[in-house]
Amino acid sequence: MTTRVLMVFDLPYSVPANYDFATEFADPDGSYTENDVYKALLESDYEVHRLSLFNDIRPLLDAVRDIKPDVIFNLCETFNLTTHWDKNVAATMELLGVPVTGASASALFLCNDKGLCKKILRFHRVRVARFHTFYRGHKVWLPKALKLPCIIKPLTEEASRGISQASIVDDEAGFLARIAMIHERMNLDAIAEEYIDGRELYVSVIGDRALRILPAREMTFGQMDEDEPRIATYKAKWDDNYRKRWGIKNHFAKTIEPDLQNHIEDVCKRAYRALHIRSYARFDLRVTSAGNVYVIEPNANPCIAKDDELAQSALKAGISYPSLIRKVVNQALRRKNEAE
Ligand SMILES: Nc1ncnc2c1ncn2[C@@H]1O[C@H](COP(=O)(O)OP(=O)(O)O)[C@@H](O)[C@H]1O
Ligand SMILES: [Mg+2]
Repeated sequence: MTTRVLMVFDLPYSVPANYDFATEFADPDGSYTENDVYKALLESDYEVHRLSLFNDIRPLLDAVRDIKPDVIFNLCETFNLTTHWDKNVAATMELLGVPVTGASASALFLCNDKGLCKKILRFHRVRVARFHTFYRGHKVWLPKALKLPCIIKPLTEEASRGISQASIVDDEAGFLARIAMIHERMNLDAIAEEYIDGRELYVSVIGDRALRILPAREMTFGQMDEDEPRIATYKAKWDDNYRKRWGIKNHFAKTIEPDLQNHIEDVCKRAYRALHIRSYARFDLRVTSAGNVYVIEPNANPCIAKDDELAQSALKAGISYPSLIRKVVNQALRRKNEAE
């Protein structure tokens, strides 16, 4: 019998029932991840239904009742444009009795808060930057325990939203001003972390019980001034002209010595398990010149588009894109069978 997949994703607006998504899927910059996953699912001969969510959860309940999917392919990253409500969408799906691909609600909860996940990682002796969290409406100061320079980030954002060269601060006035910017202009809580100088690596992992660490990717900063902080700002990630101007590139990491590779694999496996991650994930790491590996951020629901880091790393490991997508579906179906 053909496996019936309900692919659920977020859009910044509502659409009528039985909408055909022709406009969204025709736009190469729009729903590119959804497009890639959709094509891969069709190629794998699944029966595929699509559903978008904006600010109303009822279409999900209706679709599950009417379509009776064998599995939900969850690509929701926001609900009502709010990043940290992705966990609430996953939690609702978990109540519907249908296996769901990717991260559980609890992993999303633990990983979305850049402070909370670091507390857990530290307990498990995974290196993380020293940090302090600052909530809106509460006192803000420069803690003595933090060494400057620091990076100031939104506590619960993704995709480097709110991160620019100005996020790195090296005096008290800059520290306080940047936190005020996140509180007041972005209306978000903030985290200040000590700045970790080093290589910027992206390491993807797949698996539930047996974990497979995929070949590391790296961002390098080309001709950017040595005095400038070399970090993956919003522009460094998404602005093609800016990337070209400075020679910023993402590519497979060269020259990782075997000892360092083993250490990276050990860190990623421990972090994956400590944070209840399953299915697939990507760790943003920094490796210092002394060979210390810091987890900057665990991504329990990383981008799974064909051109993004995880799928590129999988391909390098011999896993084609359609087979990656099938693996993710099969993980969910297997979890369901194990639960029965
Ligand atoms: N403590 C840190 N030290 C050095 N660089 C950092 C630190 N925290 C973040 N960065 C830089 O900022 C980028 C984005 O930070 P991250 O926490 O991964 O946020 P996002 O969820 O938006 O991707 C990182 O990839 C890294 O280049
Ligand atoms: Mg990141």
